[in-house]
Amino acid sequence: MSSGKVLLVLYKGGEHAKEQEKLLGCLENELGIRKFIESHGYELVSTDDKDPEPNSKVDKELEDAEIVITTPFFPAYITRDRIAKAPKLKLCVTAGVGSDHIDLTAANERSLTVAEVTGSNVVSVAEHAVMTMLILVRNYDPAHEQAVGGSWDIAGAAKEEYDLEDKVIATVGAGRIGYRILERLIPFNPKKLLYFDYQGLPQEAVDKLNAASKLYNGKDNIVERVEKIEDMVAQADVVTINCPLHEQSKGLFNKDLISKMKDGAWLVNTARGAICVAEDVAAAVKSGKLRGYGGDVWYPQPAPKDHPWRTMANKNGGGNAMTPHVSGTSLDAQSRYANGVKAILDSYFSKRFDYNPQDLIVINGDYATKAYGQRK
Ligand code: NAI
Repeated sequence: MSSGKVLLVLYKGGEHAKEQEKLLGCLENELGIRKFIESHGYELVSTDDKDPEPNSKVDKELEDAEIVITTPFFPAYITRDRIAKAPKLKLCVTAGVGSDHIDLTAANERSLTVAEVTGSNVVSVAEHAVMTMLILVRNYDPAHEQAVGGSWDIAGAAKEEYDLEDKVIATVGAGRIGYRILERLIPFNPKKLLYFDYQGLPQEAVDKLNAASKLYNGKDNIVERVEKIEDMVAQADVVTINCPLHEQSKGLFNKDLISKMKDGAWLVNTARGAICVAEDVAAAVKSGKLRGYGGDVWYPQPAPKDHPWRTMANKNGGGNAMTPHVSGTSLDAQSRYANGVKAILDSYFSKRFDYNPQDLIVINGDYATKAYGQRK
């Protein structure tokens, strides 16, 4: 008789799981936590069969699961209906960062605990976001296609190629990832770094960026907080999205907000796909309003074959820097979030419930974080 059931939902690794033992985040390697879970008397059921609701293995196993562990990369959407059909459920753990795939309102109503491994992949995402900016601004993909495709049309690639230097770069959300992106941009000598966030950066954090800019580039006061998002996007050559998905950020980048962006700007989104209206973004890239769009997050995930971001392009065939959701699941990040999940489970199994406060998203019927929207 087990103490309870833990349901773990991960993407399939297949041959890759055999080749790379560090691929902890796949179904076959189960975050390296099977023995740990079983040593606490719990049963572990792991699966990649998450869709469609309500006819998947996830639906069946949730009926008597006490803990569910999911990832944002291959999310089992823990909807209100699924929560209602899981009477024993107490704890939802996100292996990674970003718990929007769980209906947090329903989780609050049921007093579930939702915890994630805060900070585990923020550097990984910041690196990916800066890479995506460079890929777009430098028009990398069309040039690379020439290299591997046997052609040599310098003008064809260079006519859309710019430098990141001297550009105004703006972030929506200046939390752990947004701030790390700003830090990494200083050596590129931007004209200005702007941010929009209802939580201001601590003064020391701003001072640090300004001092680094002064040191490397001889420019002071590089960082500016902008009170209205419309005012910020109107000034920016590159906009990067780094806020969680919640009621107030869902569909934020729609036709209307995009129309207020600078003509020919680049938009990078490694936060969540649903913060942007997919069709509006694809139309803006096609029309040239946006010079390009890139990132690794989609809605839903896995993205359907006909998702508009798979094929969107500007009139020169570039402007698309999309990847599947990989930025936060580098092998380095996988090791960090696997350890973090184990720490959360340890706290739960031992009944100490001494979670790292920063890992908590909702607990005891309320939000434990200020990052998921402004609330009373
Ligand atoms: P964080 O909690 O440190 O920072 C988020 C910031 O966004 C906070 O300062 C918050 O006040 C701000 N914010 C919230 N709503 C906003 C809005 N509507 N407008 C402007 N600012 C707003 O979170 P962190 O670690 O920086 O992660 C941010 C998000 O990035 C996650 O919630 C997740 O969705 C995404 N992410 C993506 C990953 C990937 O693999 N692509 C991996 C990790 C996180």
